[in-house]
Order: sequence, then structure tokens, then C-alpha cells
Amino acid sequence: MGTESKDFGYQQESESPTKKRKIQANTDEMAAPEQFEGFMIHDTKNWTKFSKEKFTPKTFEDYDVDIENECCGVCGSDVHTITGGWGELATAPICVGHEIIGKVLRVGSQVKEFKAGDRVGVGAQVQSCMKCPQCKSNNENYCPNMVDTYGAPYNVGGGNPSKDAGGPMKDKNGKQIFAQGGYSSHSRVHEQFVFKIPDNITSHEAGPMMCAGLTVYSPLKRANTGPGKKVAILGIGGLGHFAVIWARAMGAEVWALSHSPSKEAEAKKLGAHHFVSTKDKDWFKPLAFTFDFILNAADMTNEFNLQDYMSTLAVNGEFHNVGLPDKPLPQMMAQDFAGNGCKIAGSHIGSKKEAMEMLKLASEKDLHPMIETIDISEEGCSKAVQKVKDNDVRYRVTLTGFHKAFGTGKN
Ligand SMILES: NC(=O)c1ccc[n+]([C@@H]2O[C@H](COP(=O)([O-])OP(=O)(O)OC[C@H]3O[C@@H](n4cnc5c(N)ncnc54)[C@H](OP(=O)(O)O)[C@@H]3O)[C@@H](O)[C@H]2O)c1
Ligand SMILES: [Zn+2]
Ligand SMILES: [Zn+2]
Repeated sequence: MGTESKDFGYQQESESPTKKRKIQANTDEMAAPEQFEGFMIHDTKNWTKFSKEKFTPKTFEDYDVDIENECCGVCGSDVHTITGGWGELATAPICVGHEIIGKVLRVGSQVKEFKAGDRVGVGAQVQSCMKCPQCKSNNENYCPNMVDTYGAPYNVGGGNPSKDAGGPMKDKNGKQIFAQGGYSSHSRVHEQFVFKIPDNITSHEAGPMMCAGLTVYSPLKRANTGPGKKVAILGIGGLGHFAVIWARAMGAEVWALSHSPSKEAEAKKLGAHHFVSTKDKDWFKPLAFTFDFILNAADMTNEFNLQDYMSTLAVNGEFHNVGLPDKPLPQMMAQDFAGNGCKIAGSHIGSKKEAMEMLKLASEKDLHPMIETIDISEEGCSKAVQKVKDNDVRYRVTLTGFHKAFGTGKN
């Protein structure tokens, strides 16, 4: 079935009427519906009350890829968002989810990398300006004009590398269009933020790599994790368990630091050489001056005695936050950094270059996360986010059964 822009009633905003270019029609391509459908949250007080509703996606533009979603991981960030931990909802109702795997239905006229039928993934970002120094240096995950996968407003032509973006993108009722996430039937994403999935990685394992996997791969890679390096992974949840897997595969000596002693056997199975329970009194004392790098994937850093953690760093070692708690970090004295010349840092997801490296590593070394699956439904979404909130996941939930829930998967 061929598709054309008229199916959507959208104007290709960058084209003059006389030179109006049609979206490339390919006989293998299939139309996505005019409206997508997702499991949405209306307000942060009812953060487990999902309802299945339709929403208007962004206008289909030249660099966009339409995807029929197959499954989606459940990230700690989804829970921070719907509980209001990071502030009120940017738009309501909101559909969260940014660990999406699906099948390409059709591509915009400028898309080079994908064709209908490709199995692809999408993480926590769906657009950037493609023009700024960050976008031009494999740091598009730090673009000041990035669009997050959910809750971020779109501008017209926002991802066009050769033109400035226009004003706010509006629906036919004049309402600002916001990005909506992957607990949904379909996704529409700029090709830069679509990742081809190697054949030997299953969809329910690939999903959580899109955010959790990439968010820890990027800082580990940038810290030159490898043989001879001593790396601690703090907080063995969705992100942390990937960090253990990657750091081990990169050749480092790996410590899992956890406030859940029951995770020891699994942490070692994932690849940790050592396990430290941070509940033990004075756990940090024998580890003074040990780690080159601590990757903090824990959610509650505001409750930590950070000085204890910093004291385990080797000279000039780094305490690197990827966990983004609801509350500020504990106060520290400048003196706390003086004893070992340590530093504190952070990062935001990763670049496409890093995503492709990560997928290659997982594919070539046959690396597997530990995943629980729950079929998507109003109850399924509710159960999944509650489990994340309760630290009751080993170690990531992937929502599955999308085709049944949305009546898709027929092509
Ligand atoms: N920077 C980024 O770009 C980025 C991207 C994605 C997610 N994030 C953030 O990363 C964090 C982790 O996400 P996730 O999906 O991995 O969440 P998760 O699966 O819930 O894991 C969080 C881990 O934090 C630890 N933790 C929880 N409560 C704690 C407490 N009271 N005291 C100490 N540790 C506690 C637990 O590990 P132990 O039981 O082993 O202690 C838990 O498994 C979240 O803040 C999320 O928003 C950031
Ligand atoms: Zn995430
Ligand atoms: Zn940019």
C-alpha cells in the first residue's frame, strides 16, 4: 500500500506550493494511522491510572521515520515523570515510554538509513537541531534544542539540518503538539534517533538498551573503561545492571555497590567481580583510594552520605551521576574533594554513534540483560510502574503484546 502526504492532511511546511514535494512513496511502505494510540496518564496524583487513548503525533516531515511499535521498556524516568517527582506534567494526558522497538512503516523523503520493514529502536530523544556544534560532533544528546521522547514540544522543521526551525508545531485545532512516548501503537521519530537492531538481539532485550543501556554505555566509554580500570557501579537497577554487563565486557574490574544485599548472586552473574552492600557499616573504609570511576545509577543519591562514596575513589577518580533523583544532591564541602582530588560529574543518555557501538558489542559478545515482560494494558502499565517504584524489578520490565493491545502487526 502506497502512502502520500494527503493521507494525513499535513502540509510539508518547508515546501513552496509550486514545488511541493511528495513524501517518497515506496510500494513496500505502509500508512501509519492519522492518530496514534497509547496508554496515558492524566495527572501525577493518579500515576498508576493508565487509560488507552488516541493522540495526534507530530506532523510527518522529511527526516521522519514512522514505526509500528512492538514493545517498550519501563524506565525509572517514566516513573519520575508520572509521579511528578521532576515537576508537573509538561502536557496532559501524557504517554511515557522511551525504550521502543518496532518496525519501520514508511520514511520521509530525506531519510537515507531506513526502509519499510526494518526492525529499529528509539530511546529517550526523538529530535535535535542537527546544526549546532553538539549535533555536529556526535554529542546530539546535548543539543540545546533537543526533543525528549515524551513531554517535549515540537517546532516545525525542528530537525532539518539545512534550515532554521519554524514556530511551534500545532495540530488542526491550533494546539501545540508534544512528543508522546512508547507505551503506544506507533512512533514518529527523526532518523538520527532511530537505531537499527542487530538480528541476534531479541526485541524485548533490545528495548531497554535504547535508554538504560545507552545511558550507561556512553559514560563508561567516555571514561575509557577497559583492562586495568577499577569501576564501581552504584545502584543495580535497570541502568546499573546494564552498566555491570558493559563494564565487564569492556574488560574492567567491576564492583557492584548496592543497598540490596539480595542482589549479590545476580550481580555476579551479570559480570561483577565483587559485590559490596552499602548497608554494611563502614563498607567504604577498606575501599579507600580504589576506584577509577564510580557510575552512580541509583535513584536516591539525595539520601547518600556522598563523602563515604567519594573516599573510595583513586586519585583524580570520578563519581559520575546518571541517576536523576527528585531531590538535590547532598551538600558537600569543597574540602571533601581535596583528600583524593576526586571529581563529580554527570551525563545525559548517549549519542547515536555510541548506541550503534553498544548494539555491536551486545551482538558480537552475545550479551543479555535480565528482563521481565508484562503484556501492555491499563493494568499491565500500572503494575510495571508500581514495580519500578518499589525497586521490585529484576532488572528491567519490557512491556510486550503491543500488536494484540492495539490491533496492529497485521502488515
Ligand atoms: N542521565 C540520564 O540520561 C538518565 C537516563 C535514564 C534514566 N535516568 C535516571 O537513572 C535512575 C535509574 O533509573 P533506572 O531505570 O535504572 O531505575 P531503577 O531500575 O529503579 O534503579 C534504581 C536503583 O537505585 C537504587 N535505589 C533505589 N532506591 C534506593 C534507596 N532508597 N537508596 C539507595 N539506592 C536506591 C536501587 O539499586 P540497589 O537496590 O542496587 O541499591 C535501584 O535498583 C533514575 O533516576 C532515572 O531517572 C537517567
Ligand atoms: Zn530512560
Ligand atoms: Zn543541535
